[in-house]
Amino acid sequence: MISSIRGTRDILPGEVERWQHLERVARSVCERYGYREIRTPVVEREELFAKGTGESTDIVQKEMYTFVDKGGEHVTLRPEATPSIVRAFVEHSLEQALPTVKLFTLGPMFRYERPQKGRYRQFHQLNVEAFGIIDSSLDAEIIETAATLVAELGIEDVELLINSVGCPGCRPAFGQALLKALGNQVPKLCADCQRRAKMNPLRIFDCKVQADQLIIDALPHSIDYLCEDCREHFNKTKRGLGVYGLDYRVSHRLVRGLDYYTRTTFEILGHSLGAQNAVLGGGRYDGLVKRLGGPDRAGVGFAAGLERLVLAMPGDAGAITVPDAFIATIGEEAREPAQLLARDLRHAGLTILIDYEGRSPRSQMKRADRTGARFVLIVGGNELAQGEVSIKNMKTGEQDTLARADVGTRLFSTKPVQETPTLANLCR
Ligand code: HAM
Repeated sequence: MISSIRGTRDILPGEVERWQHLERVARSVCERYGYREIRTPVVEREELFAKGTGESTDIVQKEMYTFVDKGGEHVTLRPEATPSIVRAFVEHSLEQALPTVKLFTLGPMFRYERPQKGRYRQFHQLNVEAFGIIDSSLDAEIIETAATLVAELGIEDVELLINSVGCPGCRPAFGQALLKALGNQVPKLCADCQRRAKMNPLRIFDCKVQADQLIIDALPHSIDYLCEDCREHFNKTKRGLGVYGLDYRVSHRLVRGLDYYTRTTFEILGHSLGAQNAVLGGGRYDGLVKRLGGPDRAGVGFAAGLERLVLAMPGDAGAITVPDAFIATIGEEAREPAQLLARDLRHAGLTILIDYEGRSPRSQMKRADRTGARFVLIVGGNELAQGEVSIKNMKTGEQDTLARADVGTRLFSTKPVQETPTLANLCR
């Protein structure tokens, strides 16, 4: 047997319905907030991430699936989608093509990390990115979008963390302050932190090594080094969150493991998860479009880990599609009419299963029961000659006979109805 690769997973029927539910909710939220879908390749030039995600990040230093292809090109399986979306924004001049550039994408990402619950080498993200707006009202709206996604998925016991990492104007002073506070303690830190101290001291906050935490906890906070504009932006963002009634905690350690962030950073933690409890994270990245060769345009966004959302969703989320009917046949001559009946009902929009093997009526009924179909349609015998079908309600056990033409109406009219929400019962 050839098994799957470590850190990758099959999403099997039974679980996949939860994913489909999640994807439906994600698309619906994105569309309602004005995002259009974009799909970019999973493979990109290595330099896109070196430049975009940043040379000093763990992702670029240790976690990329990079290889030389047969044409000698250095290519990488995307570890995140933000640089790809920015590349597409620049490459296709999307700002001319779309009135407001708000984009989302769903798909797999690849990071060579140590696998554990909620952390995989191939995982999936929803990415939500908005371009061209500096105003903090967008920061607040994006965070509210993320919170809405989590709420609509029924995920409870969550916590919103925010921070501001400043801008290229004020961050160097903070970097200096970090180095000053570290003083002669740098050699006591782990090897990664010693590298981080040289390349980008802010990255020291990404450290998970237990022995380093006491030193890191005592380091200065970025929000105490913000320039006037960044402080104002942060205050307005917090006010915006207040307008939406969102609770948050300012976390000084939330610098996020990517180099492109400016000003706002945020994460939502799911406390029902284990060690890997960030269900989503994001922030503002105002210099990234320019760094990747585009115009000087602002950007804000977030990415949610779909595996983690699925883990945090309530157990009953994502119902399996209940088959409307299972078609059983009696006798060989019933099989072709049954196949046509199945086709017609499917074309009409119903979910229909059918027996393929001409088994005994008893074993067909048993199978129908296992599928959970609402009805069994029995095709054969006298009814077949008269253009009729027997229909058995699997819940009540009642059985009667219907004209073939009326079967669809019966199946539609008995479908469970979904309530239409009203503004009054939706708004908090
Ligand atoms: P990130 O924090 O690296 O940010 O990833 C976002 C989310 O992806 C995490 O909160 C987590 O839920 C999930 N995730 C990350 N790594 C793994 C993994 N190995 N296994 C399972 N889930 C994982 C970004 O990727 C940024 N591009 C977010 C962003 C978009 N910032 C601005 N725009």
